[in-house]
Amino acid sequence: MVIFSDRPITELEHLYGEGHRRAVESLRRAVESGFFAAVLGARRVGKTSVVKTFLKHYRHKYLYFDLSPYMGLKSVGFRSLVPAEIGFDENTLSSEAQLNLTVISFRIKRVKITGEVFQANLLSLLRELNSKYDRLVIVFDEAQVLAFIKGVNYRGLLQFIHNNYRNIVVVLTGSMPGLLERVISPIKAGEPGFARYIEEIHVPRWSRRETIEFLRGGLKERNIEHREEELHEVYEEISGIPGFISYYGLLRLRGLDHRDALDKTISYAVSQWENDLHAFLSIYNSPLYIYVLSILAETMTGASWTELKNELERKLSRTVGKSTLYRILTNLVKAEMIQKQGDRYTIMDRSLRKTITMLNKQLYPIIEAWNKG
Ligand SMILES: Nc1ncnc2c1ncn2[C@@H]1O[C@H](COP(=O)(O)OP(=O)(O)OP(=O)(O)O)[C@@H](O)[C@H]1O
Ligand SMILES: [Mg+2]
Repeated sequence: MVIFSDRPITELEHLYGEGHRRAVESLRRAVESGFFAAVLGARRVGKTSVVKTFLKHYRHKYLYFDLSPYMGLKSVGFRSLVPAEIGFDENTLSSEAQLNLTVISFRIKRVKITGEVFQANLLSLLRELNSKYDRLVIVFDEAQVLAFIKGVNYRGLLQFIHNNYRNIVVVLTGSMPGLLERVISPIKAGEPGFARYIEEIHVPRWSRRETIEFLRGGLKERNIEHREEELHEVYEEISGIPGFISYYGLLRLRGLDHRDALDKTISYAVSQWENDLHAFLSIYNSPLYIYVLSILAETMTGASWTELKNELERKLSRTVGKSTLYRILTNLVKAEMIQKQGDRYTIMDRSLRKTITMLNKQLYPIIEAWNKG
């Protein structure tokens, strides 16, 4: 059965696409072996769906932290670490662990909880969960936010869990892999961090065939008339990102015709890209990202390294270092905003291209000021 939804999928039978199912399987293997895992992929590709489906299907005990609301913020209070979901029976815990849970959930009123108190209570709770269960999964959804949380030493925390709580496995998700690397790398170079024990699991976009089969299946099941060309057009406009494809399906179910549904989906995609670009800019703190994207948005055939470098230097009236350009391109490729084919870089999505062209006007004055300041 095909589910068109704007919420994460939680049932394996509803999780569509070979790559998504393979990601669930890889996650199972990593967690069974006791490895930490990082589930990576573009925005709205289905990372949360993969993790939630995995937890539910294999009936794991878990603690789920959802950091997605804080993406793009440079300073985040540790209250953001309230567990969004508690996937075990609280009532079977000792009274001490129940109290720990009450503290880290900020359910106690009129008591000031500091970062240290929070951390101590979390570790004490985990000590009991580690001895009580064979396996407990802790999820940090959009884990790159951890790097901006004030008052809690998240790296120390992850390292401590890794070294001392053998039955606990941490799963991170992230759509900004460049930053996630910073979160998981050891505190000091040369230290034996846990980064090398992290299994990276990639959630891919759907192929054209998968996109069309998903839409065709869902529309047929509800007797909604449609033409094959319409489904191909959806793929071409919003490529294989399940979140946008599912949204289109949802609108068709609500009675919109193809044109209306597609237009609304594109607007939705553009507004989401807009948020992401702002977050990206704020986090990576460099207008060069926007320059690179705007150069690429202007060409359909993309640009080579040398063309990009020349064009950037012309716009900025200064030289751009090789390592700087390399870092920018790597982060954009990893965030799946651009792709490299042969020796050319191009923007992956039409809706992203549209968003950049639209934002150019709005962002250029900010960037100019930035350059001068
Ligand atoms: N494999 C799938 N089968 C069916 N629907 C899916 C699948 N993957 C994602 N979706 C749909 O796409 C939307 C986005 O999924 P999800 O929230 O899991 O993605 P995400 O990568 O975590 O997104 P974000 O970057 O916003 O956190 C949801 O509405 C979900 O229903
Ligand atoms: Mg998500």
